[in-house]
Amino acid sequence: MKKRLIALVVASLAFGTTASAQDDFSGALKARKGQFNILAINLGILGGMAKGETPYDAEAAQTAADTLVAVSMINQPPLFPAGSDNMSIEDTRAQPSVWDNREDFLAKWAGLGEAALKIQAAAGTGQEALGPMLGMLGGACKACHDNHRAPAG
Ligand code: HEC
Repeated sequence: MKKRLIALVVASLAFGTTASAQDDFSGALKARKGQFNILAINLGILGGMAKGETPYDAEAAQTAADTLVAVSMINQPPLFPAGSDNMSIEDTRAQPSVWDNREDFLAKWAGLGEAALKIQAAAGTGQEALGPMLGMLGGACKACHDNHRAPAG
């Protein structure tokens, strides 16, 4: 009786693992794309102020920079489960190099974190500080996209 129960539990666990490994990446895809979009929105807020399209507002600039730092602290591996690369599934631009060259991917993510911290320190100090800072931040985005994100289309 006990043995049969254990066998049943083991079987259901095995089944569960197989099912999720096969397809359901939707949560991870939403989460990782969402964080990138949050980065883009806050980069846009700071970019608008840097270009003078929106008036400089120290508090809003600081909040946007704080948000960049917060997002940069999100641990990446859980959002990139094995098998969710663009060679294996649809709806993603994450290249296999995210997994095959994980060290580089995580180093690029750390580079984003460093850039975000510099912006956090300067964003509230004046409009002139924003331009050069954003150049640096954009460079951190691009460094990763060039290596680990497939072109759109
Ligand atoms: C460490 C690597 C890395 C860094 C740093 C990075 N990205 Fe990305 N980004 C990716 C990958 C990989 C994808 C593809 C995700 C997918 O399609 O599953 C992506 C996708 C995106 C997308 C598309 C999201 C969607 O809805 O499909 C946007 C927008 C984006 N990134 C903006 C940014 C911005 C802005 C920055 C910098 C502030 C940035 N990223 C920094 C790796 C990175």
